[in-house]
Amino acid sequence: MAEDNAVVLRLDAVHKQYESADRDPVPVLKGITLTVNRGESIAIVGPSGSGKSTLLNILGSLDSPTNGSIQLDGQELAHLTEQDLASVRNKKIGFIFQSHHLLPQCSVLENVLVPTLAENGKAPAGAVERAKKLLDRVGLGHRLTHRPAQLSGGECQRVAVVRALINQPSLILADEPTGALDHSNAESLADLLVELNRDEKVTLIVVTHSTDLAARMGTTHQLQDGTFAGNAA
Ligand SMILES: Nc1ncnc2c1ncn2[C@@H]1O[C@H](COP(=O)(O)OP(=O)(O)OP(=O)(O)O)[C@@H](O)[C@H]1O
Ligand SMILES: [Mg+2]
Repeated sequence: MAEDNAVVLRLDAVHKQYESADRDPVPVLKGITLTVNRGESIAIVGPSGSGKSTLLNILGSLDSPTNGSIQLDGQELAHLTEQDLASVRNKKIGFIFQSHHLLPQCSVLENVLVPTLAENGKAPAGAVERAKKLLDRVGLGHRLTHRPAQLSGGECQRVAVVRALINQPSLILADEPTGALDHSNAESLADLLVELNRDEKVTLIVVTHSTDLAARMGTTHQLQDGTFAGNAA
């Protein structure tokens, strides 16, 4: 049994249904229980429409469950104000979305620095150095002043990964991070995620349809009919 301070995320009986005035509610998650320890790497797989993105958004406090409890670093997310949640998200969580969502008018370096501006509109000391170091590490040290339109899809996705890392999050949530990439770019992005997990002990939760990427994570959870099938915790 892991010690409590090793637990990053704890989900208990999480349910989610989408409600709307003119339609029947859509039940998506029907009792997800999961404990994620610091430094773990987890793949969440399942058919299209099974609720993987819904779950990831809830894990990252971008959406809230209909029922059930979610604790991040021992804090019950439902007890936090919107402002506290925004701050928790910004400091602790790095998001990588399927599409990179880079700002087209900003350079590579500026895009990476965006999450550091949240506190007072200024990048803190050391952020530029860290950004350059990380961009170097993903092979983009020579692309600092390029704009997203001047980069390949794989390069944009690497910039998005660096942006997710700039605030040194303890948790990375990635939704189909390799979905838009060719085989070789997908493989090098997977290498990068695995390295970060191993060397920086970043906890990694990856939603993916790729069996290659899932196989490189420590554990795989299969989402089926709103719950984890098979090896669920
Ligand atoms: N805002 C919403 N309102 C109503 N239903 C929704 C909403 N968002 C998602 N759904 C429904 O919830 C279910 C799960 O959606 P979700 O996006 O989590 O699936 P997914 O597993 O990520 O699928 P994919 O692999 O295609 O990305 C789907 O049936 C979807 O139609
Ligand atoms: Mg999805």
